Amino acid sequence: MPLVSAAQVLPQARRRGYAVGAFSIHTPEMVDAVFAAGERLQSPLILQVGRRAVQQSGVEEACAWVRRRAARSPVPAVLHLDHALDLGAILRGLRAGCTSVMYDGSDLPLEENVRRTSEIVATCHAVDVPVEAEVGRMSGVEDDLTVEEAEGRLATAELCVRFVQETGCDVLAPAVGSVHGLGQGVPHLRLDLLTSIAAVVDLPLVLHGGSGLDPQQLAGAIRAGVAKVNVDTELRRTFVQALGQALEVFAPRDDPRPALLAAESAVAEQVALRIGHFGSAGHARD
Ligand code: G3H
Ligand code: ZN
Repeated sequence: MPLVSAAQVLPQARRRGYAVGAFSIHTPEMVDAVFAAGERLQSPLILQVGRRAVQQSGVEEACAWVRRRAARSPVPAVLHLDHALDLGAILRGLRAGCTSVMYDGSDLPLEENVRRTSEIVATCHAVDVPVEAEVGRMSGVEDDLTVEEAEGRLATAELCVRFVQETGCDVLAPAVGSVHGLGQGVPHLRLDLLTSIAAVVDLPLVLHGGSGLDPQQLAGAIRAGVAKVNVDTELRRTFVQALGQALEVFAPRDDPRPALLAAESAVAEQVALRIGHFGSAGHARD
């Protein structure tokens, strides 16, 4: 089916108490893996293109992989541009067919983040594309950007209300203690903070830094109002580890395709596991 907008999947996810996985893709095999898992479990999907994929493959190319695969899929899929840092990147994402975008002004002073987010919301709404924005600042490693723990800032409920009112954004990603990347230990998710934000903001909330979070943490976050969970690092790690193992068998035979397929099916299993944790299986027709 044609791509759908985030506005067609996220509000009902929040209402009905599940989250839709936003899976970062970096190769055509990863796109196929996400669709294979979503189709097997009848789940709505979000495939996201972040700065690493944009730098390595180009936004046009990465989005084309998703558009082409979505066209022959029976499950609804959103094509999301993740962590865009300026209007130029957003416009290129829109031209490449994104049906959802995230503007990340979280490293700017608040007033400037509000000003730029509002400008981007006006632009994207003119072509009916919803905008996700970040309040507070997450720590960790996101593509080409490392934010030390001490530089991180948690969101507050008051700040979120003001930010939503002043920017008109459609989807909100508050910094609530999750961390980008793997390897900094188990993050301390502030479910109390998430609950207080969800009590005063009825937009779908996004949890970034999904890699490595355990099912209990995720269930608590989804109960508190999270409708979208972003997952990147663990999928990249799964892909390269499975590829490495498969190459031990297939490299001596000079046979690339079976090695790539082994990596693809390992990613599909990981995505399926996450769809189970997010509770979105069986919701493809909501
Ligand atoms: O926007 C992307 C995510 O927040 C990914 O975080 O690499 O920790 O899964 P992650
Ligand atoms: Zn993120």
